[in-house]
Amino acid sequence: MTARRAAARALANVALVKYFGKRDPLLNLPAAGSLSVALEPLETVTEIAFDEDLQGDAVSLGGAPADPAFAARTTAFLDIVRGLAGRATFARVTTRNGFPTGAGLASSASGFAALAMAAAEALGVELTEPELSALARRGSGSAARSIPGGIAVWMAGTLADGTDSFARAIAGPRDFDLRIVVGVTDPGPKAVGSTVAMERTRTTSPYYASWIETARADLVDAIAAVEARDLERLGEIAERNALAMHGAALAARPGLAFWNGATVDALHSIRALRAEGSLAFFTCDAGPQPKALCSPADEDTVAARLAAVPGVRSIIRCRPGAGAALVACP
Ligand code: PMV
Repeated sequence: MTARRAAARALANVALVKYFGKRDPLLNLPAAGSLSVALEPLETVTEIAFDEDLQGDAVSLGGAPADPAFAARTTAFLDIVRGLAGRATFARVTTRNGFPTGAGLASSASGFAALAMAAAEALGVELTEPELSALARRGSGSAARSIPGGIAVWMAGTLADGTDSFARAIAGPRDFDLRIVVGVTDPGPKAVGSTVAMERTRTTSPYYASWIETARADLVDAIAAVEARDLERLGEIAERNALAMHGAALAARPGLAFWNGATVDALHSIRALRAEGSLAFFTCDAGPQPKALCSPADEDTVAARLAAVPGVRSIIRCRPGAGAALVACP
């Protein structure tokens, strides 16, 4: 049989209202909804070729064979897609991140969104965008939001099978002109993965229940802020939401401290800029890289100030980007 091939491109995203807590860890169903911005140019391009001559999946990342953990996660995800297609054929998977590898930037969102789209296409599984988003969610929760791209809302849903837990765009990439400046402080891999961190926070943090309540209320406010194209309001919600998430994680036992000194200095720098009149707000995921949400007019100032924080090794300027899309196979 000739190999069935497809390739897809997807962007990473940063949550302005964070997903941090699962109602079902197996299906990656969140306890609360979240809201994100797709980050152009932080892309993953994944090519997949199903081939009956293969005895197992062959996974490469950035031009080299992927490590066993990455390969196992890819195979576990492909098993879900093979199940939908009613096929057992293995695949050759070639993934490249278009941002510096080892920059400590989460690539699971862009990676599983691109993989979901390419694998479904190659196996002839026809899915609507919500179904594709729910499929990508199985690989990594945040990947659900990289399918629609733009400014996306991923609803928690209430169904046990997760079919109502997918993301949809509430604004396209050009509908709300904003910028995200990412500071890279630590290129190393995360000490604690997001699933372990979320489960520890859910089961041991005395602040978990209030964090989830806070996130639910923040999501309602953030959607209204996006609809009103109100960057100041959206930024205030994003900053307080990130701090609340980290507060709940810090209170877990043992506490999860994702930040390093440069992350804290970046928070203060961004707040100082705001006091000086810039529209700039801090956010940070389950790692040490600070991110500033800002207006296009303030982007240069924010980038320069963030780059000047001791311990910030590089910065990457991002803008809202598109959803996942098929691309020509190389
Ligand atoms: O998609 P995961 O399982 O890597 O979780 C991502 C969690 C955060 O980045 C901390 C928040 C978010 O909503 O992206």
